[in-house]
Amino acid sequence: MAFSCVTRNVFSVLPLLVILTITPQSSSFSPSDKVTTELLNQLCAKPPIDNITFCVWQTSYAITVALDLGGLVDMVLEKTRVFGNMNLSAMKELAAATTTDPYLKNTYEICVIDYELAVTAIEGAQVFARSKSYALVPQAASKALDIISSCEADLKDLKNLGAYSIRNSVFEKMCNIGSGFSNVLTS
Ligand SMILES: *[C@@H]1O[C@H](CO)[C@@H](O)[C@H](O)[C@H]1NC(C)=O
Ligand SMILES: *[C@@H]1O[C@H](CO)[C@@H](O)[C@H](O)[C@H]1NC(C)=O
Repeated sequence: MAFSCVTRNVFSVLPLLVILTITPQSSSFSPSDKVTTELLNQLCAKPPIDNITFCVWQTSYAITVALDLGGLVDMVLEKTRVFGNMNLSAMKELAAATTTDPYLKNTYEICVIDYELAVTAIEGAQVFARSKSYALVPQAASKALDIISSCEADLKDLKNLGAYSIRNSVFEKMCNIGSGFSNVLTS
């Protein structure tokens, strides 16, 4: 009699235990989670990402090629690195083409160095992501962001170039996407 009562209690407690062990996993993310439209919309809504449309636009390719979340972080960082290198080339060309305004030329040259450092920081983030040290990725990405913000501030100081600094925002937004996606893997 007593035995069957204990058995019944175990069986009534079991579903609760199952729920308790599943719940924490369903509220966090794992590098092996398949990327879906739903997951992207969820991730792209997280700070420091500030433009869901841009974020989904830049990342939805991951669904097409069936990446998991770990692969998605790698893809975002690689895109960020490629954009940074394109921007680096653009800044080099601008510096070389600017011959009549030494102050402007100097600012472009500073931005060339900034982009070199920012790309190096993103390459560091890539090393961290590949070794699944996701907590270190946002640190490296925010370092890259800070460096390019300083280039942007220098360009903004040149009043006649006010609108130009907007061109850095693609790189900055990509840094934030890399940080945001890595953050969910550590929380
Ligand atoms: C968000 O990104 C989209 C796509 O790049 C762009 O068209 C839109 O202007 C951006 N919105 C804001 C508020 O920056
Ligand atoms: C950086 O690259 C992006 C992506 O190609 C481009 O849209 C942006 O204008 C570039 N910015 C600069 C400052 O070269």
